[in-house]
Amino acid sequence: MRFQFSCLLLLTGLLLASGSAGAQPSDAAGTEQRISTLLAQMTLAEKVGQLTQYSGRQLTGPASDRKTDLLNSIRSGLVGSMLNVTGVQATREVQAEALKSRLKIPLLFGLDVIHGYQTVFPIPLAEAASWDMAAIRQGAHVAAREAAAAGQHWTFAPMVDVARDPRWGRVMEGAGEDAYLGAQIARARVLGFQGERLGGTDAIMACAKHFAAYGAATAGRDYNAVDLSDQQLWETYLPPFKAAVDAGVATFMNSFNTLNGVPATGNKYLQRDILKGQWKYQGFVVSDWGSIGEMVPWGYARDPADAAQKAITAGSDMDMESDAYRNHLAQLVKDGKVETALVDDAVRRILRKKFELGLFDDPYKFSDLKREKQVLSDPQHRVAARQMAEKSLVLLKNQNNTLPLGKQHRTVALIGPLAKSRRDLDGSWALNADTTLITSFYDGLAKRVGAGTRLAYAKGCNVQGDSRAGFAAAVAAAQTADVVVLAVGETWEMSGEAKSRTDLHLPGVQEELFQALKATGKPVVVVIFGGRPLIFDAIAEQADAILYAWWPGAEGGPALANVLYGDYNPAGKLPMTFPRNAGQIPISYQQYNTGRPITKPGEIRYKSAYLDAPNTPRYAFGHGLSYTTFRYDNLQLSQPTLTADQSVRVQFRITNTGTRAGEEVAQLYLHDVVASVARPLKELKGFQKLALKPGESQTVTFTIDRATLSFYNQQLAWAAEPGDFRLFIGSASDDTRLEGKLTLVP
Ligand code: GLC
Repeated sequence: MRFQFSCLLLLTGLLLASGSAGAQPSDAAGTEQRISTLLAQMTLAEKVGQLTQYSGRQLTGPASDRKTDLLNSIRSGLVGSMLNVTGVQATREVQAEALKSRLKIPLLFGLDVIHGYQTVFPIPLAEAASWDMAAIRQGAHVAAREAAAAGQHWTFAPMVDVARDPRWGRVMEGAGEDAYLGAQIARARVLGFQGERLGGTDAIMACAKHFAAYGAATAGRDYNAVDLSDQQLWETYLPPFKAAVDAGVATFMNSFNTLNGVPATGNKYLQRDILKGQWKYQGFVVSDWGSIGEMVPWGYARDPADAAQKAITAGSDMDMESDAYRNHLAQLVKDGKVETALVDDAVRRILRKKFELGLFDDPYKFSDLKREKQVLSDPQHRVAARQMAEKSLVLLKNQNNTLPLGKQHRTVALIGPLAKSRRDLDGSWALNADTTLITSFYDGLAKRVGAGTRLAYAKGCNVQGDSRAGFAAAVAAAQTADVVVLAVGETWEMSGEAKSRTDLHLPGVQEELFQALKATGKPVVVVIFGGRPLIFDAIAEQADAILYAWWPGAEGGPALANVLYGDYNPAGKLPMTFPRNAGQIPISYQQYNTGRPITKPGEIRYKSAYLDAPNTPRYAFGHGLSYTTFRYDNLQLSQPTLTADQSVRVQFRITNTGTRAGEEVAQLYLHDVVASVARPLKELKGFQKLALKPGESQTVTFTIDRATLSFYNQQLAWAAEPGDFRLFIGSASDDTRLEGKLTLVP
C-alpha cells in the first residue's frame, strides 16, 4: 500500500501546489454565443487560417522567405496554431505576432509531450508495464504541469494505437497489444494531461492518436497500408479511442495509414460516421504531419486541392504542415466544392477549445516566466519519474534467486555499451531530453552499492558494429567480480517513428559479449534497454537473471539500482508479447484454438503449428516476476449462471508466500467457448494491482456482467450471446492459477 499511497499523496501535493486544481466551470452556452459572434465577423481567409497549423522550427534559424511568409501569415490571422514553439519566451513572442491580426484570435501552441516535458519519464510502453493507472495518470499530470508552465496548450498524446507487431518502431509510444489495458491507460493519460476540466494552468489539451489502426501497418513498416476487418477494427483498435472520448479528450489526430484502401485523413467512415457521428465527438481533429497532402502520393487524391476537399469532407479539421488548406480550401468553397458549413463547423470546434483554455481572456495565460522557473524545478517531479521507472521494470527471469544483489556481492562488474549512456535512457520522443538531468545506470548503481562493494566497469562493445576489441577487458573485469551486470539493448534512435526493423535481435555483437561473460562461470544479470520487444535467444536461455528496462527515463539509473538491490521489489508485467523470432509476428496472447489445435505436445503434423518453432512466445503478455511469490486460491462465484441483466461476483484470495513485501497484478481472462464469431482463447477482462506484506492475504473481487461478456458480432453489434464462458485468473496470460466456468442463460 506504501507505493500506491505515495503516488496519491504526490498527485494531491502536485495539484494543491499548482493552486489551480481546475478552471472556472465553462459556460458552454456563453462560449457558443461568443464563437457565433466571432464567426460572423471572420472572412473566409481568416476561417481557413484557423484550420492551419505550422511548425515553429521554421521561425528559428536564419532569415528566409519561408520564415518571413510564416510571420506575415501569423500577423494576418492566417495561422490558427503552431507546434514546436517551446518555452515561455518564444510562445509570448509568437503569440504577440498573432495578436496583431485584425480579430486578435490567439494561437494554440502544441508539442509532442509524449513521456514528459522537462522531467523525462519512462517511455509509454514502459509505463504500460506498470499496470498502475494512478502512477500513469500522475506521470501525465507532471508532464502537463511542466508543459503548461512552459507555454504549451496542447500535447499530441496519448498515442493509443494498439500494436501487435514489434517490427513497428512506434510500439514504444503506446500501451501495447491489448484493447482492454489500452483503454484503461488511454483514460488515465487523458485525465492526467487534462485534469477534470480544461482551463487550469496545470493542464493541457490531450490528443488521442493516431486515428485509426496505425499500429496494424502491413509488415510492421511505418506509414504502410492497413487492411483490417471491421470486426477487428471495432474489437481491437477502436476501444482505446472510445475510452479517450469518454474521458473527455480535447482533440484527435488522424494517421498516415490507409484503412482498407482509404487514407485515415480522408476517411469519412472513421472521422464523421464513427467519431463525430456515433460517438458524438465535439472536439477537433488535427491531421498528422502533412498527411492531407500525402493523399496525393497515396494515389487517393489527384492534387493538393483534391486532397484538401477530401480531407475537410471526411472530417479533418486542422491541417498540420501540408499547405493544402491554406492554398486551396477558400477556392474550393468559392467554387461550391466545399460547403461553408463544413468550414464553419471545423472553425467552431477549434475556437471552442481556445475559449475553454481561457486564451481569449488572457492569450499569455500559459506563458508566465516566474511559473515556468518554479514548476520546472519542482523536485517532486523527479521523485515521480523514479517511482514510475521502478514500477515499469519487468523481471523476466531470476534463476536461483540471483537477484536481488546484496552485501555478499563484494565486487559487482557492470559491463556493456549502455551502462554509462545517458541520452539512451530518455528514449525517443523526448524532445527536451537534457543529458545533464539524466542519471546513468552506472551512476545510479555506483551511488547505491554499499561502502564494502567495489564496482568494476568495462564497456565490452558498442551497441552496433562487430568489434570485439573490448571483450578481453570485459572478461577480465568479470573474473574479478562476484556477479556480472550486463547492460545491453537498442540505442534511443532504434525505436520510434520511422524506425521499423526486420531483425529484432540485439544489434551488433552484444549477445556474443554475453556469452563471453557467461563463459567465466560468474552469475550474469542482464539488463536490456529498448523501445520494443527484442529477441535475445542466448541471453534468454543462459542468463541467470533478466531485467527489462525499456527506456526508463531520466531517473532510470537510480530506479534500476533500487530494483537490483531489492529496495523496490519489481512488479512490472509485459504489455506486449515477446516473440521467439520475427517469423511469429504478428503475435499476441489472443490466439484462436483453430480447427486443428495442437492437443499433444510435439504432435504438429497437420496441426496449426510451425515446423521450426513452437507457437508460444519467448515471454507472454502479462509476464513479470517478483522477488516474492504469490498463491492464488479460494475462487468463488456468487452464482454459476447469469441472465443478461444480472452480474456475477468473482472472488479469490491472493497470499504473499515469500519473505518480501511485493505487488502483484492479478489478471482476469475470459474465453467465450462458442459464439457467432470465433473467439480468442483468452481476452483480458480485468486486473487489479495489489501490495502485500509477507504472509498477508487479500480477497480480490471482479464483477462480470453482460458488458464483460460482449463482443462485436458479424453485424458489428456489441452483444453477449448465451452460452458457456471459461474464466482464468492468474499472474500472466500463460500463468493462470485458477479456472472457473460461467453460463450466460437467455
Ligand atoms: C509526427 C507523428 C505524430 C506527431 C506529429 C507532430 O509525424 O506521426 O505522432 O505528433 O508528427 O510532431
